[in-house]
Amino acid sequence: MSVNSKIIACNWKSYLGVGESISLAKALAVHSKKHKMRQRIIVAPSCIALYKVGQLLRGTQILLCAQNVNVESNGAYTGAMSFDSLRETGCKYVILGHSEVRSGKSLGIAETDRIIADKLRTCLKEGINPILCIGETLSEKEAGLTMKVLRRQLITDLGALHDMDSNKIDLMIAYEPVWAISSNGPSKSPDPAEINDIIIKLKKLLSSEFGHKIAPDVKFLYGGSVDNLNISGYLGQSSVDGVLIGGMSTNKSKIIGVLGK
Ligand code: 13P
Repeated sequence: MSVNSKIIACNWKSYLGVGESISLAKALAVHSKKHKMRQRIIVAPSCIALYKVGQLLRGTQILLCAQNVNVESNGAYTGAMSFDSLRETGCKYVILGHSEVRSGKSLGIAETDRIIADKLRTCLKEGINPILCIGETLSEKEAGLTMKVLRRQLITDLGALHDMDSNKIDLMIAYEPVWAISSNGPSKSPDPAEINDIIIKLKKLLSSEFGHKIAPDVKFLYGGSVDNLNISGYLGQSSVDGVLIGGMSTNKSKIIGVLGK
């Protein structure tokens, strides 16, 4: 995969209000219509901005993503976002298992691997493509537990793949070391070569656990303090299929600056 055709996924978290999301989506739509971008560009606005951003991106090559979804398809689930409404927005992807969701920082309740696995199963059934985030905390890294944690997350969260015989799954796994995420302290961007090595190990693990039918189609992203200066270091790694960007992706001039022309 050439650097120019890699995936750039933007997680706007709760940084932007509805008006700001609309303004950024309009700028991205204009850029996308003017320039034939070869990258796969994915944008995940907050759920309240999803519908309007989806409308603005229609007819562009930018794909819409939600930041989370309910375990169940739709029904009596107060406060939840249903799959039916997600589809109405034109959403193609959903982020699952983000560390801010796993820790309880985002929703006030920590999502376990079991919950994430159930959501992933429903996503596959409903035809919404998951972007599964995995990553170790600083204390886990310092205790030498990185691969053990990643293995547990990967194997549990992807349990539904054992029942799938399709090789048409558009699944992405974002390796986001929790300690590298910009909002978790002074920005620490890991060495791209180290990220490449971990992703190589994850690809092997995926292949040995879920077989050669599924593994080659799964794309691996890196996320954590990616900015306009270090992005090419990550995208230049052979095993890194793309990046998942938080803070920087909400800065209009910086994000447009890194998109292809
Ligand atoms: P930052 O790019 O702000 O470190 O966030 C990464 C992230 O959490 C993307 O999901």
